[in-house]
Amino acid sequence: MSYNLLKGKKGIIFGALDEKSIAWKVAMRAHEEGAEFVLTNAPIAMRMGEINKLAEACNAQVIPADATSVEDLENLFSKAQEILGGKLDFVLHSIGMSPNIRKGKSYGDLNYEWFQKTLDISALSFHKVMHVAEKQDAMNEWGSIVALSYIAAQRVFPDYTDMSHAKALLESIARNYGHRFGNLKKVRVNTISQSPTKTTAGTGVGGFDAFYDYADKMSPLGNASAESCADYCITLFSDLTRMVTMQNLMHDGGFSYMGISEGVVEMLNKQQ
Ligand code: NAI
Repeated sequence: MSYNLLKGKKGIIFGALDEKSIAWKVAMRAHEEGAEFVLTNAPIAMRMGEINKLAEACNAQVIPADATSVEDLENLFSKAQEILGGKLDFVLHSIGMSPNIRKGKSYGDLNYEWFQKTLDISALSFHKVMHVAEKQDAMNEWGSIVALSYIAAQRVFPDYTDMSHAKALLESIARNYGHRFGNLKKVRVNTISQSPTKTTAGTGVGGFDAFYDYADKMSPLGNASAESCADYCITLFSDLTRMVTMQNLMHDGGFSYMGISEGVVEMLNKQQ
């Protein structure tokens, strides 16, 4: 259902790889709600060409940018403002990648060059995005910037290895840049801490199926889907959440406040 919540708003959406991507669902919902936006992803991620289908469905243009490159981001922000005919109201950072996770390195055996790549791609890129937006004065007042996080920033999930540190850094950047951008332009900055979700990035984490099922059983509402995450992003881009900033917002069906659940007890009892 559409409520026209983003009518007249302009933005940039990072991270739609394929139709499972959270950013893909956000783009579809933002389009339904009347937003105009530019889509972007790393040049290498565009090889599959999936993003062009999304661009067509949303009447959006695609501008490649490696989110770790300030130069690419400068080009992206200036071209996006040209295409959209003005400053931006929202930005979605939906980017994550760990070479250590990809190559199956355990926490005690991390490759430190890859660790730095993980931090650069998954966290520092968020700082760079906001730095470029600030320098180009690209955001409208009362704009909204959102990045996606995971509860491994606060709790230990052993297979999430260096990504847990990237998420902790990402959330810290949201708080600190949220303070700065709020003072400068009344722009709000938040992270959404999403349930495990069956996407390319999500299912790449070792033991994903087990912790997907565990989180689902622990959460009174079950795991939050990518579609419901998109709905939540839309509310944060809309004018209905203008005073929410510097927060890490749990979107997890209640998981983060649970100790143990009936479903998990039942599962353990069955195993005995
Ligand atoms: P996805 O694999 O569809 O999206 C990750 C995106 O990051 C891809 O589009 C990829 O091309 C992009 N990317 C990687 N390196 C990049 C670079 N250098 N420059 C620009 N883009 C780059 O997976 P998903 O799940 O939609 O991930 C989106 C966000 O949601 C990530 O931050 C992820 O950590 C977060 N998240 C995912 C959860 C899950 O279980 N899937 C749970 C909680 C958070």
